[in-house]
Amino acid sequence: SDISKGTYQYYMLKEIDEQPAVLRRLTQAYINDDGEFNFDSKLIEGLKAADRLYIVAAGTSYHAGLVGKPIFEKLAKKPVEVELASEFGYNMPLLSEKPFFIYLSQSGETADSRQVLVKTNALGYPSLTITNAPGSTLSREADFTLLLHAGPEIAVASTKAYTAQITVEVILAQALAAAEGLENNFDVKHELGLAANAIQTIVDSKDKMADLAKTYFAKTRNAFYIGRGVDYCTSLEAALKLKEVSYIQAEGFAAGELKHGTISLIEDGTPVAAIITDPATASHTRGNIQEVEARGAKTLRIASEALAQDGDQIVLPKLSTVVIPIVSIVPAQLLAYYATLQRGYNVDQPRNLAKSVTVE
Ligand code: G6P
Repeated sequence: SDISKGTYQYYMLKEIDEQPAVLRRLTQAYINDDGEFNFDSKLIEGLKAADRLYIVAAGTSYHAGLVGKPIFEKLAKKPVEVELASEFGYNMPLLSEKPFFIYLSQSGETADSRQVLVKTNALGYPSLTITNAPGSTLSREADFTLLLHAGPEIAVASTKAYTAQITVEVILAQALAAAEGLENNFDVKHELGLAANAIQTIVDSKDKMADLAKTYFAKTRNAFYIGRGVDYCTSLEAALKLKEVSYIQAEGFAAGELKHGTISLIEDGTPVAAIITDPATASHTRGNIQEVEARGAKTLRIASEALAQDGDQIVLPKLSTVVIPIVSIVPAQLLAYYATLQRGYNVDQPRNLAKSVTVE
């Protein structure tokens, strides 16, 4: 069945490997052969009518929201705020005049997110839940639902649901752009096909990932992921993956901000992985790599093809900056997976964590 591990030792690796198929499934589900979008027209009208989208989520889904913000803003020119569910419900900021709420939740059952939905429903605001669980609480209680079509995600650490969430955001943002009559020269179907192929290339290089995990993460107590812009958002998720399963104290950091304080933590041998996918900031991030190297850090790069340089690196195939965050996280998922095995832990069931948290 769908939820057997097959020949895999752990679900997490199986789910990482499924990502190219999930991307293709989502493309088919939401874009037809003529390139038309397959969304409820009332949903698109609701998004169009909004002056601002508020994405509310927890954990990995929150990170998918952070990555989604520049996607909606770039493709559809719609302003977006991204909020932690556990904070937002009790500290609601002054909202825009016509807000539209998007709840991102793999399980559709997260209590922190639900309490916000209850409040925004009471205020009469329109809402969409993007979830992997049809019929889940958040799906039933929102006005609209979009499914992630990722298949059951069993490993506690979320992988394929995260890349599926970003994929749905990309398609939805482009559908909104089309409805708004915006021309942006972004061929969503083609780009998602390239992203699926790129993920396939990465998951096919497991030996390299295992070797790099051994060099950088098998022994260390702490580690950093750094990046700028969307690569910073990816760094947050990359660090979370490492923390959740390998118990390394990992921090995702805005590359340029490290020097304003936190660089004091860099010691001889501290691993720093930099994500570099944006030509506009690549040279600055490289400067930050040199700063930490000068203080003894061991540095690794996850860089897109045109930005690759010397040193240990994982090279990502050439892709549009819109879809690259769907791909750039995958090496970090694999590094977390292998580091955890090397450190001797159960990767599917990390201590203290639950797959879905139904208390506030
Ligand atoms: C739990 C899980 C995380 C997940 C978060 C949000 O804490 O351990 O992996 O990201 O909940 O879950 P959701 O189902 O709302 O996406």
